[in-house]
Formats: sequence, structure tokens, C-alpha cells
Amino acid sequence: NTYVAIMAGGIGSRFWPLSRVNHPKQFLDILGTGKTLIQQTFERFEKLVPIENIYVVTANEYIGITGHQLPALPKENIIGEPYRKNTAPCIAYISFKLQQLNPEASLIIAPADHLILQEDKFLETCEDALKFVNHFNALVTIGITPTYPNTGYGYIQHDGDEAVPKVFKVKTFTEKPNKELAKTFIASGDFLWNSGIFVWQIKRGIHAFQKHMPEMYELFASEDEKLNTEEEKEMIENIYPQCSNISIDFGVMEKADNVFVIPASFGWSDLGTWNSAWENMEKDYLENAVAGDNVIVFDTTKCVVHVPDKKLVVLQGLEDFIVADTKDVLLICHKDKEQEIKHYVAEVKRNK
Ligand code: GDD
Ligand code: MG
Repeated sequence: NTYVAIMAGGIGSRFWPLSRVNHPKQFLDILGTGKTLIQQTFERFEKLVPIENIYVVTANEYIGITGHQLPALPKENIIGEPYRKNTAPCIAYISFKLQQLNPEASLIIAPADHLILQEDKFLETCEDALKFVNHFNALVTIGITPTYPNTGYGYIQHDGDEAVPKVFKVKTFTEKPNKELAKTFIASGDFLWNSGIFVWQIKRGIHAFQKHMPEMYELFASEDEKLNTEEEKEMIENIYPQCSNISIDFGVMEKADNVFVIPASFGWSDLGTWNSAWENMEKDYLENAVAGDNVIVFDTTKCVVHVPDKKLVVLQGLEDFIVADTKDVLLICHKDKEQEIKHYVAEVKRNK
């Protein structure tokens, strides 16, 4: 028996002005495919487990939009958190809750906001991971072949020996290294990126909390009989302020000694930037990626353009630009300068 927990509580600020606090990246159709990222994530897992076994854990204020975007998901499978405390409390909460429903079940934990192009390969990898965790005491993560020293990812080094075909024992897990370290990792050639997709038996995950984050474990374990009852909401509101704000990567994955990795390639991107969106979107012959039906371009190349459907936008003579229009904000920014966007957001906030 397998559950899926989709984590959808982050704020994903880099796709400003499309992503806003009240409308983060997972709820956007970044690539202009007609489906938002959380819808795509949900539809992928629908092919793996029954819908009733899919849960979305998100901030209370996103419960409405989650239900709206995923009408097929039973409302009681949308789990709200009263505070943003990063991924460790989110995973602890859903694990304790599901453990009561089925103590022997396995759990796949996945971000809501990633792109996966080759769905069949992805589902196959999930099956491999499930098979493994049902036979071994293991915390499995899916690893991606890295291409450059990104400092926003976790880095996984494995020992090169297959525990079973396709599965490797992890030697080191380093979450978000600094630039220098990331460069050495890439140069050495034996590291993978952590995709942030985890698979384990629920009881093993809970055991890992007990061992590596005992305070958080205690908070949930001491009152877990209230989960799945009318008292759950109040219990969670009491517990969350006491939980430390920490990711599963720092809290568990860096410390545990039973971590295994399945290297995989299924056209994965965490769509962290406008450039990565551009790379993954359909492009015209001048390499413009356009989301929006009413955009006309002249002498324009390599741009990524995002505009609301009804507005007519005409572009002339642009190369390598981001053009992102929303109801109240229009951004025109060189693709090379997208790292600056967060400063513009800060500036906008200061001037408001
Ligand atoms: N429910 C809930 N509550 N979800 C959250 C919270 C929270 O407080 N914080 C983040 N999330 C969700 C995000 O919406 C996203 O889907 C997922 O959890 C991962 O969080 P990110 O904040 O995007 O993590 P990251 O990108 O910095 O790092 C993780 O992902 C990388 C790959 O994209 C790590 O696992 C890295 O090791 C990994 O390489
Ligand atoms: Mg992320």
C-alpha cells in the first residue's frame, strides 16, 4: 500500500511577477502548457496510486486554491499547515497521520513544482524505489546527473556499488553547499543532485525523525492519538509553533546512515528560474518561448514571454529578454540579469 504526499507550501519567489505570496509557483502554468505545476504533479501520481492515497500538504491559505486546481482530489486529502516551517515538519505531520491509517504503508514524498518530461521513466523509477524500500530498511532519494555547480540543491555521493540493480548506498549527502564546494563536487564526477523526491516506508521515516530530530518526533508522537480526529486541528496549531524551521534535507538526509539513491534521468527540472523555464518551453524558430495567445514578435529572439491571454503584446528587436505581464505588474528584464529579480521585488516592497 502506497501513499503520495505532495508538498505544496513553498512560496517560490523567483518567478515574480507571476509568482506572488498568494499565488506561488506550484499554482502557475509556468510553461504555458494549459496545466499548472501542481496539476501536472497530481496527474503523474494518479497513474501510480489510487486518488484517495494522494495527499497535498500545504499552507492553510493555499487550501482553497489547491482544491480549486485539483477538483478530483478528495477535500480531506488537502492538509493545511498553520505556519511555514519548511519540509521537515510537513513530512513529520503527514507521516504520523498516515501511520495511523496504515502502519505498514510506504510513502512517496514529492515537491509540487517540478517539471518531469518523461513520465513513464519517472513512474518506473518510483516502482523501483518502492520495491527496494519494501525489502530493505532504507530511505531512498532519486538522484539526477548534475550539469553545473548549482548551490540550491542537495548533493549526493554514492559508493559506486549497486545494493541491488539501480540502487546505490549513499556515502555523503550535502544540502546546499557553497559555490567552492559545489564546484569540487561537480569536478569529481561522482555526485548527483538530490531531486527532492523521497521514498520510504512510513515507519522508517518516523524512526529517522526519532533518531535525528528527537524533539520534533516527541511533539508529534506525544499526541498522535489526536490525529484523524476532531482534535487534530487544535493539536497541530499547538505543535507547529514549537517545531523548528528546518528542511528534511538538513534534518534527516544529511545525518541518516541508511540513505540510498536511485540515479535517474527523466527530463527533470526544478524550474527554479526563468531561464530554466525558457529551456523547457516549446520555442518558435527564433527560439522564443511564448505563453499567451496574443503575442506578436518581430526581430525578436531567445525571449521568454508570459502574458495573460487576452492582452495583445507586440515585441520588436528584443534578444534574450524576459517579458512577464500580470494584472498589476509588467516585468521586462534581460535573461542574464534574472538573479536580480529578487532585488527588484525587495525594492518594490520598500516603495509600497
Ligand atoms: N507543505 C509545505 N510546507 N511545503 C513546503 C514548505 C512548507 O513549509 N516549504 C517548502 N515546501 C514545498 C515547496 O513548495 C516545494 O514543493 C518543496 O516543498 C521543496 O521545497 P523548496 O523550498 O523548493 O526546496 P529547495 O528547492 O530549496 O530544495 C529541495 O529541493 C531541491 C531540488 O529542487 C531540497 O530537497 C534539495 O536537496 C533539492 O536538491
Ligand atoms: Mg525547490
